[in-house]
Amino acid sequence: MKVRVYGVQPDELKLYEEAEKQGDLSFDFAKAPLNEGTVNEVQDCEAIIVMTNCQVNEKVIEVLARKGVKYVATRSAGSDHVDYAAIKKYGLHACNVPFYAPEAISEHTILMALRVLRNEKKCNAKLASNDYTMEGLRGRQLGQLTAGVLGTGRIGRTTMTLLNGFGTKVLGWDPYPNEPAAKLCTYVERDELLKQSDIVFLHCPLTPESYHVIGKETLSMMKDGAVLINTARGGLVDHAAVLEALESGKLSGFAFDVYENEAAFVRKKKTLDEINDPTFAALLARDNAIYSPHVAFYTDGAIYSMIEVTLDNLRQYQTTGACRNEIKEEAGPV
Ligand code: NAI
Repeated sequence: MKVRVYGVQPDELKLYEEAEKQGDLSFDFAKAPLNEGTVNEVQDCEAIIVMTNCQVNEKVIEVLARKGVKYVATRSAGSDHVDYAAIKKYGLHACNVPFYAPEAISEHTILMALRVLRNEKKCNAKLASNDYTMEGLRGRQLGQLTAGVLGTGRIGRTTMTLLNGFGTKVLGWDPYPNEPAAKLCTYVERDELLKQSDIVFLHCPLTPESYHVIGKETLSMMKDGAVLINTARGGLVDHAAVLEALESGKLSGFAFDVYENEAAFVRKKKTLDEINDPTFAALLARDNAIYSPHVAFYTDGAIYSMIEVTLDNLRQYQTTGACRNEIKEEAGPV
């Protein structure tokens, strides 16, 4: 099967070269992400492997179908960049990697939380100006806080396990509560979680229901001085409203690994002028907002297992026509 791969990092090439030796898959590596502007470069392949910075919308899928592509494999857990309704409409199949290393994302989540709670950005700025005083650096201990986790799936549960290790009181909300999570948190209603939590962690998928779940209204329910951590998807958060909440002191800190319009700059080198997003620029400029460019998943172990599972997904399609990781729900872009 000929496969076109998007978003390969130089350190991942070896894994594809190894896989090619088995003789059943051959790869062609695209330079730019897949979107409406680049889809016409697709030639002569049965499958494509995409990443979260690709925009697999209906227009792209219509072209892919015309060019004979049958399978779209995203080597990520989140699949909101793939319009599954259009995949079905044009008779393609799409699959993801439902889990590879929830620990990678959860460890990064806790790292970001601690960086915010201990004023790391402020501390570095003071050091850079030869200021070794303690002023402005009094932190808060994660273990003395109440944390609310929205989305108690694999990553949510892993974060809750780590939070339990710190001694944090953990509240959870999920439209589909589950037994293993009930052992790690106290389930409460969503609004109650927002009211009671000192720190809120987002670990839910981006769906039409969860789009801007953190916005003006939900922020107003949160505790004064609460902290928000988002390592799930940018679209869960109305960033303009979060900026306003940081400015007013309603939120005392915000850490984000994902941003709603990140496709314009993530995995690229761009200046803030080129990005031209005043909200993003204002967030980056704040000493109580911390950003990382969608790298929570990016560890040795996670990369290896993402590629392994993705190639196994394609091999399942090739040999049986079906795949156990076929994306089932309609998680099209909102
Ligand atoms: P999962 O499918 O195991 O769990 C998701 C949970 O969210 C489920 O329990 C589901 O019932 C719940 N949920 C669905 N709609 C919800 C809503 N509106 N509000 C609250 N909860 C809701 O998924 P997993 O593996 O835990 O991943 C969660 C998300 O993390 C992914 O959808 C993806 O967007 C994001 N992610 C981010 C990465 C990064 O590098 N920053 C890497 C991997 C995933």
